[in-house]
Amino acid sequence: MTLWEGRFAGDSDPVMQQLNDSLHFDRRLYRADVQGSIAYAAALEEVGLITPEERDRLVAGLQHVCAEFDSGTFQVKPGDEDVHTAVERRLGELIGPVAGKLHTGRSRNDQVATDLRLYLLDEMAVLWTALAELQEAIVEKAEAYLDAIMPGYTHLQQAQPLLFSHWLLSYFWKLQRDYERLSGVVEHTSVMPLGSGALAGNPFGIDRQALARRLGFSRVSENSVDAVSDRDYVVEFLAWAALVQIHLSQLAEDLIIWSSHEFGFVELDEAYSTGSSLMPQKKNPDALELLRGKSGRMVGHLMGLLAALKGLPSSYNKDLQEDKEALFDAVDTLKTELPVATGVIRTLRVNTERMASAMDDAVLATDLADYLVRKGVPFRQSHRLVGEVVRHADALGLPLRDLPLVEYQAVHPAFTEDVYAVFDFRRSVEARNTEGGTAPVAVRAQIERTHELLTAENN
Ligand code: ARG
Repeated sequence: MTLWEGRFAGDSDPVMQQLNDSLHFDRRLYRADVQGSIAYAAALEEVGLITPEERDRLVAGLQHVCAEFDSGTFQVKPGDEDVHTAVERRLGELIGPVAGKLHTGRSRNDQVATDLRLYLLDEMAVLWTALAELQEAIVEKAEAYLDAIMPGYTHLQQAQPLLFSHWLLSYFWKLQRDYERLSGVVEHTSVMPLGSGALAGNPFGIDRQALARRLGFSRVSENSVDAVSDRDYVVEFLAWAALVQIHLSQLAEDLIIWSSHEFGFVELDEAYSTGSSLMPQKKNPDALELLRGKSGRMVGHLMGLLAALKGLPSSYNKDLQEDKEALFDAVDTLKTELPVATGVIRTLRVNTERMASAMDDAVLATDLADYLVRKGVPFRQSHRLVGEVVRHADALGLPLRDLPLVEYQAVHPAFTEDVYAVFDFRRSVEARNTEGGTAPVAVRAQIERTHELLTAENN
């Protein structure tokens, strides 16, 4: 039995049902659906469409259906095409014909739009916390290794000395922007479509403001045609999720490279690694590879929904049912990935000696150019001169710090004995002490700021 069979003489083709049915994935909306219906029953009572007694029976019945879903005893029957149909069908079995009054003035179009928003608002709260926990793990690890120096890379080539903590904290800020961006998605999600009906609005004068307050929405939709079709907030969420995913992927990629034998800067805990079925020595960074690899599907979900929305005529079209699997998978994926990323960072072992010994003197080439600048040589010129020095040292097979002074002076007379003081990685790092730089003093200030933000996030 379907909700719409009155108009139909025959049955639908079983393959059509297979295409049409969404209960196997939208059943997770049951709590939101029941919550929305309980609020709607109250609204119907307020305008006198049902008696207080009928409302109470509806509410009790809906709570019973919810409990069946909770306990896994809910029995799916033929015709339960989606969660809304299934809940209503069961309600009828439990409380009789009065169940048929619940849908007065309501359509599954405004119902599903309301349910999905309620569901997403709940899930976003969970993701927000998971994100903040990862940020916390990053700050803790950065504090534990605040002074460790490593080569910083651009183009994956040694560039300039960097504090490990400074590198790690770079991810704090990416995630901080994600954290802040999520409030924009919450704002656009917290709009109540209920009371829009199928597309034209509600003819029974229900109090939508009161309904919205009851359901915890910050406002009501302003246009019923827009309200039943608006999935912009799902697009925004998927875009948000894709960006979080890409940040996780980038973090994973750094750690995968650095955990290789050749680098050995970090070691992944066994809890986040797996072995090889063939090579006994292997400890593979699978957790990180999955954090990287899930990017494909997350970007795909965003593109998939955008493509489904493109060219839709106005108000509700069944194409919109395609919003859910993408959204649910994005939510599930991030809910698993964020705690994994947090665990990886918390348990990560850092090999500070390997980082220090990996540094080539050439990472101080910029400092050498800055040395000449401080002696009055214009930077463009000093850049070229140091390039020559590096080339000389290369030709002689000497590290820069062992290149004799005469060789330096042959390039430029401004080089004097004190040039050798440049060859100190710590000094290089300490020099970059302006706000946002890698100097320990600047990183300490940065960590202070992260604490302020995390405290604000926890409140
Ligand atoms: N399962 C549908 C969806 O996800 C519910 C809305 C159905 N509305 C309709 N007019 N057939 O969009």
